Amino acid sequence: MNAWEVAWRLTFWTWMVLPSANSLDCGRCDRGANELTCPYSFSPDHYVIKLTDVREWPRSSFHLKCKHDAQSVDFSYISDCDFSTVKYVELQWCPMPNGSFSEMFEQIGIIAKNVTSLSFVNLGQRYENLQEWHLEGLTNLKALEFKNNGFTSIPPHVFDNTPKLLHLMLVENQMETLPESLFHNTKNLTRLELQNNGIVSLPKGLFANLTNLRNISLWENLLSQIQPELLSDSPKLWSLELTKNNISQLDPDVFSGLREIRKILISNNKLETFPERVFHECPNLERLEFENNRITDLPDDIFSENVNIKRLNMDYNRLTRLPEKLFTNMKNLENLKLKRNGIKSVPLGLFEGLEKLQVLDLQSNILEDLPPGIFDDLISVDLLILHNNSLSELPDEIFANCESLRELYLSYNKLNTLLPTMFPNSSLESVIDLSNNNLSFSSSRTELTHYNKTITVQDYFPLARMTGLTRLLLKNNQITEVPLALTTEFENLSTLDLSYNSISYLDHHDLTFKSSILKIDYRYNNIKVINLNYMNFSTDTNSRVEIYVSENPLVCNCELFKFAKLTKGTLRDDIALTVADASQVQCSYPEMTYVTSIDPTSLTCKSQKCIENCTCMKRPHDHMFVVDCSYQNLQSIPLLKKEHIPNDDDYEVTLMLTNNSITSLDGLGKGEYTNLVNLTIPYNKLSFISDTYLPKTLEALNVRGNNISSLTTSVMKFFNLSDVQLNLGNNPWRCDCNTLELHRFLVDSGQKVLDIHEIGCSNFKDEGLINLNEEDLCPLIKQPFVIASITAASIILLVIAILGTVSFYKFRQDIKVWLFTHRLLLWAVAEEEKDGDKKYDAFVSYSSKDEEFVNTILVPGLENKDPKYKLCLHYRDWVPGEYIQNQIHHSVEESRRTIVVLSPNFIENVWGHLEFKAAHSKALKDKTNRIIVIVLGEVPPKDELDEELRLYLSTRTYLLKSDPKFWEKLRYAMPHPPDLLKKKEKQEKIELR
Ligand SMILES: *[C@@H]1O[C@H](CO)[C@@H](O)[C@H](O)[C@H]1NC(C)=O
Ligand SMILES: *[C@@H]1O[C@H](CO)[C@@H](O)[C@H](O)[C@H]1NC(C)=O
Repeated sequence: MNAWEVAWRLTFWTWMVLPSANSLDCGRCDRGANELTCPYSFSPDHYVIKLTDVREWPRSSFHLKCKHDAQSVDFSYISDCDFSTVKYVELQWCPMPNGSFSEMFEQIGIIAKNVTSLSFVNLGQRYENLQEWHLEGLTNLKALEFKNNGFTSIPPHVFDNTPKLLHLMLVENQMETLPESLFHNTKNLTRLELQNNGIVSLPKGLFANLTNLRNISLWENLLSQIQPELLSDSPKLWSLELTKNNISQLDPDVFSGLREIRKILISNNKLETFPERVFHECPNLERLEFENNRITDLPDDIFSENVNIKRLNMDYNRLTRLPEKLFTNMKNLENLKLKRNGIKSVPLGLFEGLEKLQVLDLQSNILEDLPPGIFDDLISVDLLILHNNSLSELPDEIFANCESLRELYLSYNKLNTLLPTMFPNSSLESVIDLSNNNLSFSSSRTELTHYNKTITVQDYFPLARMTGLTRLLLKNNQITEVPLALTTEFENLSTLDLSYNSISYLDHHDLTFKSSILKIDYRYNNIKVINLNYMNFSTDTNSRVEIYVSENPLVCNCELFKFAKLTKGTLRDDIALTVADASQVQCSYPEMTYVTSIDPTSLTCKSQKCIENCTCMKRPHDHMFVVDCSYQNLQSIPLLKKEHIPNDDDYEVTLMLTNNSITSLDGLGKGEYTNLVNLTIPYNKLSFISDTYLPKTLEALNVRGNNISSLTTSVMKFFNLSDVQLNLGNNPWRCDCNTLELHRFLVDSGQKVLDIHEIGCSNFKDEGLINLNEEDLCPLIKQPFVIASITAASIILLVIAILGTVSFYKFRQDIKVWLFTHRLLLWAVAEEEKDGDKKYDAFVSYSSKDEEFVNTILVPGLENKDPKYKLCLHYRDWVPGEYIQNQIHHSVEESRRTIVVLSPNFIENVWGHLEFKAAHSKALKDKTNRIIVIVLGEVPPKDELDEELRLYLSTRTYLLKSDPKFWEKLRYAMPHPPDLLKKKEKQEKIELR
């Protein structure tokens, strides 16, 4: 022993005594947390050691990772380490040891007897076989894994060294077979994994005496048969995996005696059939999978003893028929897969008694129909997959008992309707005639009449009573109509796929659902019309619906109006209906355009029924029915009949008659022109307008370019009373005394005439009528010989006029009050209310001795009648404790009027105080009629009043309490609420119609 060795042994002992630290502090290596890289990371042959804890066993798990092509490992770098607590060893990518694994452990510092688990994993590139002596000394080994080591054979006695082995994995190697005596000394083996080895055959006695065997996994080998003796000594077997072998035939007794077995997986083999009794002695079988074989037929009672099977997978076989009694005893079946066989039909009793079945997959067969009642016992089924078959119709109520059904996949079939089967072709066809750009749709969508018997659709609906459904996939069928029941019954539906069908028409019935959240796919149909125009958005849309509608040949016309707005996001803010693929939705008629790029107000529909040679058009955005008979050489107003006008809504009528030869408007009285709002009749031969047939509804009248020289008084009256917009230009107006009325109209209501500056005079060249004054139009003296008479008449007229003017001025107030009271010509009596933001309508200033009048008469009269005014009263609205002066000032400021109750009491007690002064100065400043004086009792004699008060009584509004029109005048003097004016105007318009 040299000095150096002594030194490190001392260190070693010191380390042993110390409590184990968290990091590995031994070895001449790079150190990390619980990790050593020896000798250092960049050395060509380095290896990494990791030490981890396996639960209540500190530092029990040892992991060694070599460089994958290392030829040897030099453990001298870690000769000072002690790994005596290690139980589990993992060796990754390391070369096969030259000696036994125990010797290798000794070099590392692991005590072989302590090791219970060894895993030796390579990358499949080494070709050194295991030797008999490799496992010597590992007497306590319970779990052993050899993976991807390139072994081509296993020595027959190698496991004699490991009698306690419970779990053996010998996987991803290349042995074609195993020696018969291999497991003779490992009686306690319970789990044996031999997958992925290329095993071609196994000797009969391989598992002899392995009575504790529970799991055998043999998948991905090349076994072509299993000898019946192989498993006969292992009655406790639970699980047998034979997936992906070459087995084409099973011996009838291969599973006999496996009374405990739960799982047999034999998928992906070449089985063509099963011996009739092959599973009969496996009563506890719960899972049987034989998908992807070549089975064409199954014996009738092959599963008759397998009451406990829960999962049965027969996907990807060649079954064309199934025996009616095949599943009869399988009361516990939960998952049944029959996908991609060649099943043409299923016998009626096939699923009888399968009350626990949750998933049934029949997709990708060639089912053409299903017997009525076939699913009647499937009361627990949750997922039913029928897609990719050839179903063209479903029996009524076929799913009636499947109340647990949540997902139903019916895509890729030939279903053409989900309506009652007695109506194979739905009578609800939309008739679309593109040549005329006219669409009509006849529908009574809830009821059908058949042999005079009316039935409701949902009673006979194939999906009747499946109201729990959440996903319904109907993609790629031939459905022409969205079944009504889908929208009205299915409150839990969240996904509905109707893409790739033949639906041609959608309206709001198809987009309003009972379920609260729904994604619905209508893409790739033949949808031309999406008509939401009659949707009631407040009641129809309680659920959040997201629709996909691109890839349809939509027609952009009036029917699309609201949908176009919806797509553009301009319909409503609060709407729960969204077009998920809005930016891709396109019209294909009249031209290819994205719906988001069109202006919805431009959408119109031509109507087929119309006056001869005219075009009639519906325009939904303003509910207008436009009749255009322009350029037709008509002599009179054409006859519009009731049948021409769409009866589905209250359409207003616009009549366009540009450039005809019409001489009179009389025809308006004969046709259906009661809803006429716009009469456009320029460039005709009208010389005269009679208001007899002008409907009260008229909002626009265009008579430009006719032969009109004057208008009658009654027509002028009509223009004055209505709000009609006029075009009067380009007529030979005769500007004389007869045109005075028109002139005044232009001056007063010029805003109603759109071409006011184009109204010229035939007798005043180059002068617009509006630019002339009344004297120009109607000079008093025109011809010398009529001077006398005209003078006389003029004098009389002058007197009358003076009297009239005087009386008008005298009674002007009364006239205005009368108009206001009767809510007439409010615009005329309206005054600008600049102070709309004030808190009160009026502040009442009065003497406390007149309280009774104020509280019992004035206040109730103004505050409780219509319109209601808000008064400022000192006892109510003043802040207690504030300076009186400020209070008055504020009250006047905050009020639109100041009412002074003028009485002897007032003059005596209040007058001269600040209240009135404040109001006074304020009123003068704003120059509007802010002060209303109510005189209680007699008007005080003028000379008793002081100067200021006198001034008020002469220039401001004052009212006598005793005046019979007191209230009307008072209200007129009060501010006119602006909304009243508007409301009233509207009402007037309506009444006019
Ligand atoms: C591991 O081996 C050592 C030395 O033989 C022994 O002292 C220790 O108790 C063993 N540990 C276990 C868990 O077997
Ligand atoms: C096999 O298991 C049994 C029961 O657990 C045990 O008594 C017996 O010692 C084990 N045999 C071997 C060789 O370890």
